[in-house]
Parts: sequence; structure tokens; C-alpha cells
Amino acid sequence: MFVVFSNAHAIADYLTDHIAQQIRTKPTTSLGLATGSTMEPIYARLLQRIQAEALDLSQITTFNLDEYIGLAPDHPQSYFYFMQHHLFAAVGLQPGQVHLPCGVCSDAEQECQDYAAKLARVGGLDIQLLGIGSNGHIGFNEPGTPFDSRTHVVALSEKTRRDNGRFFERFEDVPTHAITMGIAEILSAKEIFLVATGRHKADIMARLYESGIDEQLPASALKQHAHLRVLVDEAAAELLP
Ligand code: F6R
Repeated sequence: MFVVFSNAHAIADYLTDHIAQQIRTKPTTSLGLATGSTMEPIYARLLQRIQAEALDLSQITTFNLDEYIGLAPDHPQSYFYFMQHHLFAAVGLQPGQVHLPCGVCSDAEQECQDYAAKLARVGGLDIQLLGIGSNGHIGFNEPGTPFDSRTHVVALSEKTRRDNGRFFERFEDVPTHAITMGIAEILSAKEIFLVATGRHKADIMARLYESGIDEQLPASALKQHAHLRVLVDEAAAELLP
């Protein structure tokens, strides 16, 4: 289940091969996407490949894991902005093909229900990409989130706000709430790739490796999935047995 690569670029190459092959085989592929530093080299490589091979993306759909509440799509720290900047705009994905929870809709609970309904209509994404927080979160499912959760509003933990504070000018600017896909929806994907790179992910990777399935470690839910691969670089694998 754990696969160790020499570095983040090798992981990006591996995933790019896999995703390109998937889209060629099934042009209507649905992709579950994450944001964050871990994804940057992956999207950079994927973008190169899509352009070099003129891969036809006209029928794919994408669903992102999460969005901050209170950040509009044009806010540089919103996840919509991240996706637009790192992938969507350059590969010409149309607004109807890409889905992220709306962070500025007046009724966040209604938005969760609408997003969950859209995901339910897809009936399990073909490929789900995930990063992992240093507290084991996936999406913004923080420790203690029930494994049968669907898209919901979450109060971000102090730890997650501090980790993500590096992207904001002041800690007070880091949103306190987000909308996230739930763990049940993540688990309904046909294939899941959890990616961790860098020495700062070594502790959580060792915890995940050793852990049973435990709601205090959200990523451990993935261990129930038949088609999970955990892709780590050598630095993140440093504390693995
Ligand atoms: C982002 C997301 C988060 C990140 C995680 C790791 O959409 O869902 O779970 O994947 O916080 O973030 P990085 O990659 O910045 O370490």
C-alpha cells in the first residue's frame, strides 16, 4: 500500500502517467482533486503532459475536496484560485466541468447538501488525489470526524490554521471554517492516491503506517479501501519501518 519514490517529481511522473492513461481509456473520467503544496509539482507535470500530448479533456469532470468559507473565488488564497492558477485555466477546463464547494454562498449548509448531491450523482469519482495534514486530516476532515460523514462545514483546528497560516499575511486572516467533502464520499472513489512529501510529513506517515482504523486519525479510514496507494518520497518515508 505504501510506495516510496526518490522525490516529489518521481511521484508526479507516476501520477501523471496514471491519470493520462485513465483519461485516454475513459474520456468521461471524474477526478477528485486536492490543493496544497504537495499537489503543486503534480499539477505542473500533469499540465505539461496534457499540453504535450494534446490530451482531450473535454468530457472530464473534476471535484475538489474543499474550500475556505469566506474566501471568494478571486481571493488568492481560495482553493478555486489555486486550481485556476495551477491547472484549470492553462488546460482550458470549462466552468461546467469543474466543481468546488462555494465558500461565499449565503447558506453554507445548503451548499454542502448541493455539493453532496452532485457527488452522489457521479456515484464515486474515478480517481481521488489526497494530501495529508500533519494531524492526519484528509480534505478538511479533522481528527474525530465520523467516517460516514458527507460534505459538511468544519471548524478548522488550531493546528491546521497554523500550518496553513504560511500562505496568509497574518494568522487572524486564516479562515476559521471550511466546507469539505466527507470521508464517506472520499472512500467512494474507485481509486485513491494519498501523497506525502518532505521531512515534515515523516511523523504523520509513521503514525498512519502503524495505526489501525481510528477516527482520531482521519487518513486511517483509507486503509479500508481496496484500491489505495500511499505515495511518499524518501523524506516522508524516513520514519517508516
Ligand atoms: C487541500 C486539502 C488538505 C491538504 C493537506 C496537506 O485541498 O484537502 O487536506 O491536502 O492539508 O497540505 P499540503 O500539501 O500543503 O501539505
